[in-house]
Amino acid sequence: IAETADAAHNAVDTIFDGAFGAAGAELVIEEFMTGEEASFFVLCDGETALPLLSAQDHKRVGDGDNGPNTGGMGAYAPTAIVTPDIIDTTMRRIIDPTLKTMAARGYPYRGVLYAGLMLTDEGPKLVEYNCRFGDPECQVLMLMMADDIVPLLHACATGNLTGCTAEWHDGTAVTVVMAAQGYPGAYEKNTQIKGLDALDGQDKVIVFHAGTQVAPDGTLRATGGRVLNVTARGKTVAEARANAYAAIDNIDWPQGFCRRDIGWREVQRDD
Ligand code: GLY
Repeated sequence: IAETADAAHNAVDTIFDGAFGAAGAELVIEEFMTGEEASFFVLCDGETALPLLSAQDHKRVGDGDNGPNTGGMGAYAPTAIVTPDIIDTTMRRIIDPTLKTMAARGYPYRGVLYAGLMLTDEGPKLVEYNCRFGDPECQVLMLMMADDIVPLLHACATGNLTGCTAEWHDGTAVTVVMAAQGYPGAYEKNTQIKGLDALDGQDKVIVFHAGTQVAPDGTLRATGGRVLNVTARGKTVAEARANAYAAIDNIDWPQGFCRRDIGWREVQRDD
């Protein structure tokens, strides 16, 4: 980043003059994009793409989106900022050209495509592609899905996605990541987690395990940084997140923590 165009030119000249050796032989200049980020998912069968719900992740470790970046501290779906217009533009300008080009080059893409979008004043722009679901976005998508996903995945694999639809529950799902204290830095392992039994049988709450193990003595132990995904549905994002935090309040794990504001942008939009 340079203050003036001259300073930027000088910096580029310095790099091309060899200041960084071989590492400076090639430069990638990226557009600086501002806006809100959203995670956009489609299933693909090589030619056809079926859009799924869009979600929003919370990458910073602390409330208010403060602190270091993480793998994701929570997510919700759907998100109102991904409007039908944005879905249409994303499909026309980003997803469909990608699939067409890959097929034309002899590499038809089959599977889940996750487009990380920046929703700018000029419309949605692609930040990155991942060939997988998002974590923790997948957890909220799975709780919102009203159908079995397997036939859809089979249709992707066999080139039969045309005409398929995905059915979704009404309302919103929120997932809150419980992480080991210290994450994304160093954290203690093998700490004991209690209280999950109290959540068995609840139809609107699922706790997905990301970093746990049952020890030989039968106790549940935390073995990773991001450890549990407490995921709940509700009629609104506020209700879904209240359900998720009520579930978290049953979990007895003093060495764990979570953000307390997952879904805050959507709650503000609803207010
Ligand atoms: N949630 C971000 C990712 O899965 O890459």
